[in-house]
Amino acid sequence: MQVNDELIVNIEKFSNLGLGIAKVDGCVVFVKDTCPDDKVKIKITKVNKNYATAKIAEIITPSVHRATPFCPMQKVCGACQMQHIDYNYQLELKREIVQDAMRTIGNLDIKIPMPIQSPQTKAYRHKIQYPISQTKVSKKILAGYYKPQTHEIVNIKYCPIQPKICDDIIDFVRANAQLFKISGYDEKTHSGELRHVAIRTSAYSGENLVTLVINSQKISTNMKDFAKSIYENFEQVAGVCINFNIKKTNVILGNKTVCLFGKEFITEKILDKTFLIGTNTFFQVNPKSAENIFDYVKEYIQNNYPQATALDAYAGVSSFGICISDICKKVVSVEENKSSTELAHKIVEINNIKNIEIHNMDAAKFFQQEKRKFDVVILDPPRKGCSQLSLDEAIRLSKGSIVYVSCNPATLARDLKYLKTKGCKIKNLQPFDMFCHTYHIENVAIIEV
Ligand SMILES: C[S@@+](CC[C@H](N)C(=O)[O-])C[C@H]1O[C@@H](n2cnc3c(N)ncnc32)[C@H](O)[C@@H]1O
Repeated sequence: MQVNDELIVNIEKFSNLGLGIAKVDGCVVFVKDTCPDDKVKIKITKVNKNYATAKIAEIITPSVHRATPFCPMQKVCGACQMQHIDYNYQLELKREIVQDAMRTIGNLDIKIPMPIQSPQTKAYRHKIQYPISQTKVSKKILAGYYKPQTHEIVNIKYCPIQPKICDDIIDFVRANAQLFKISGYDEKTHSGELRHVAIRTSAYSGENLVTLVINSQKISTNMKDFAKSIYENFEQVAGVCINFNIKKTNVILGNKTVCLFGKEFITEKILDKTFLIGTNTFFQVNPKSAENIFDYVKEYIQNNYPQATALDAYAGVSSFGICISDICKKVVSVEENKSSTELAHKIVEINNIKNIEIHNMDAAKFFQQEKRKFDVVILDPPRKGCSQLSLDEAIRLSKGSIVYVSCNPATLARDLKYLKTKGCKIKNLQPFDMFCHTYHIENVAIIEV
């Protein structure tokens, strides 16, 4: 097999990174924008030692699961790798991704049920972060996502997976930044003023928090006027903030944010609890699907541990802890991000919750110094999963269950395998679709220690 070879293949499977998989003479070939059961003519684009990549030259017989993408930019943008597949089959493919990870990485024989659907499959994404740059000659502002595997911005005017107001705000930025003499960022020369525009939208109130990420330590008068114009132009914009990021880095937000106009936080509602969302604090991107997860975990604890004591680790703004506080005797939460724990205190106060204790610390360090034991330990780590030290300590601190919430099936499988070697029993694993039309899938594992 060589680059530019044209071959006719059947797509047999779907990879964990959203690519169709075909086999040619025993070699795996990854083909973008395909669906299992497609018969396609492909053109080989790269040949590596163990696998090759290819693009579609022609669809010969489409899979019955194909759907017409509802976004005209789907192929160029690359963020929704599964829009060409009907939603129910997307769920089945995600189920298989989790099943495969458990079997191959975790060596675990668990039957994975179908993911619980997202209540909304369009306009579900309530957090966006658009990189900003400008055209070389006319200095026109560009705002959008990077083309896959590049740092070239796709100037996105309409994105159906986010609320429409986000498109309107970004359009306004694009059309007006130049009038205020705002320059777009150039990452090669580390010059230009505006690096990113971040928007958080509340699914409950429709409020928006707009953050302009600037490549400066000072706010220019022009930037201030521009921020004011955004605030004044949109009734649904509850606040406009400036985040300072002068580092040469791919990390979007700097540590410092100031609110210039309106409110510093927007209000969200999950179950019967009120939450605040700020620029530098974690909150689930799809609040309606997150609500299903919080409800699921709450129900499990309520049914198994009346008057439970719970440890909510990797807690963000203590979202799990706050949602389960009514059915628990005591909740202790731990989170390393200072802004999130500070906001958690405010949220606890707003909801008049008296039985939560909040700690701002690295989870593993906190675990090591903790003497109390808990009926349930909730772990909701970032994509890289937990360290073995964290897992050992979670076992030590739990006298009943560990509830492991994960956005990465591979690291979840690795960590479940480890927990099993330590004598834990994996009772249940339920996927939830938080990121429709992408290959991402959230999971909740219930583990008995
Ligand atoms: C996937 S988020 C979950 C947040 C929260 N459970 C929720 O549902 O909103 C992971 C959180 O872990 C925090 N985190 C990352 N590493 C950590 C560590 N070593 N110790 C404590 N918290 C950590 C992050 O700041 C982030 O808030």
